Amino acid sequence: MELQKNLSSQMDEQLVYAARVAEMVKANYSLQPKACVETYGCQQNVSDSEHIKGLLLKMGYELTESTDDADFVLFNTCAVREHAEARVYGNLGALKHLKRRRPGMIIAICGCMVQQQSVADRIKKSYPYVDILFGTHVSHRLPEFVYELLMGKKRVFNISTENRDIVEGGPVSRDGSLKGWLPIMYGCNNFCTYCIVPYVRGRERSRAPEEIIREAKEMVAMGFKEITLLGQNVNSYGKGEAHGINFAKLIRMINDIEGDFKIRFMTSHPKDCTEELLDTMAECQKVCHQLHLPMQSGSDRILKLMNRHYDIERYLYLIDYARKKMPDIVLTSDIIVGFPGETYEDFCETLKVIKRVKFTSLFTFIYSPREGTPAAVMDDPVSREEKGKWFSELLKTQEAISREGYANMVGKTYRVLCDGQGRTPGSMSGRTDGNVVIEFAAEPDAIGKHFNVEVKELTNVLNGAITD
Ligand code: 5AD
Ligand code: SF4
Repeated sequence: MELQKNLSSQMDEQLVYAARVAEMVKANYSLQPKACVETYGCQQNVSDSEHIKGLLLKMGYELTESTDDADFVLFNTCAVREHAEARVYGNLGALKHLKRRRPGMIIAICGCMVQQQSVADRIKKSYPYVDILFGTHVSHRLPEFVYELLMGKKRVFNISTENRDIVEGGPVSRDGSLKGWLPIMYGCNNFCTYCIVPYVRGRERSRAPEEIIREAKEMVAMGFKEITLLGQNVNSYGKGEAHGINFAKLIRMINDIEGDFKIRFMTSHPKDCTEELLDTMAECQKVCHQLHLPMQSGSDRILKLMNRHYDIERYLYLIDYARKKMPDIVLTSDIIVGFPGETYEDFCETLKVIKRVKFTSLFTFIYSPREGTPAAVMDDPVSREEKGKWFSELLKTQEAISREGYANMVGKTYRVLCDGQGRTPGSMSGRTDGNVVIEFAAEPDAIGKHFNVEVKELTNVLNGAITD
């Protein structure tokens, strides 16, 4: 109880800073100033940005999508691959000119990328127009950092990792009103040898079940039709906590909340994916039959080098079990091509498994060395060009599998949630339980409603027609 009080008082303190900032902002600007948050990377980052936007609103800013008319620009960055970092450096460079035109503008950067000391040092030295830089453990302290800046501090840099608490009670400004993110845990303990996440997001911490349930109920009351539970490895939710509620139990508790909504979750680690979880998915009516289960490689030798703690036999067992319990389940996965030491024979094992499983779609990546991870110092003799060829082969193979899967949907009827306009002019777009997009003719007020849609044909998208 004492701890709980302490944690919410951390947020109370920040809300006091936010109110002070709001007063200063009001005095400094004739019109309400605008803040633009640009998010890179995964859904966890998208969710973090929604919390940051909540704080910016409390500080008296209004939100804008464009950096051009923003008085406050914040980049929430990703470190998972080199490409993501390169994009941030490029876009940060462009802000220099913007700030020259608008000297009072505040530029801030946060997230996984800047949690790395080498990156924070580089930005400090080479990007003098960045006013605020803060890491993943202190993002709730943004109001305090802005306050310090407005009070005359030249620059505020903070990537402290001392705070391992989850600070509850902060405001959230959600991007949509139909589908929402609900973080259930933070950080990661797995130390896959290629991955930077445990270093930049710290150890695994689970939110208290009552906080999650409270937020889920709040979202249902607000009219959200889909709640996606987020965590780096949701299957290990609650590990080491006294409450004894594991992920499967948590799902049941959310499933018991009254209302017309669906539950999704990501990401699952195969080593912690249990029969209990798959049974729970099959039994809970509100849980979508969709599972993203990153395989990374089809070679046991590479999986060992990656420190993944499962082999392909176990992986395929889980896939078969999931399909037995939920014949309509939609399966997706992540694959890394060209891990250090991977041979063409290893890669062919990956091809073999993906042909066997027939995932609906895949997220595919060429291995990107990340400083400080064990894989970054492993021998990596295969050229980038060669890896590129393997990558193209993987894409081609999966494209044919995906197309076959979509073609098999033609003639069947699916319940879809309409969530926006389709790409074909005049059409609306919706997603099945398995998160597959179908377009169909409907009025714009169909958004937010469920329909039974019969798939008529596969062009570059699935086209269907409402049957009820
Ligand atoms: N290189 C390439 N892909 C990576 N991923 C994580 N780290 C790396 C890396 N260093 C991929 C994994 C993970 C997904 C989110 O990103 O496939 O599941
Ligand atoms: Fe990027 Fe990974 Fe961090 Fe997500 S967790 S923001 S993908 S580095």
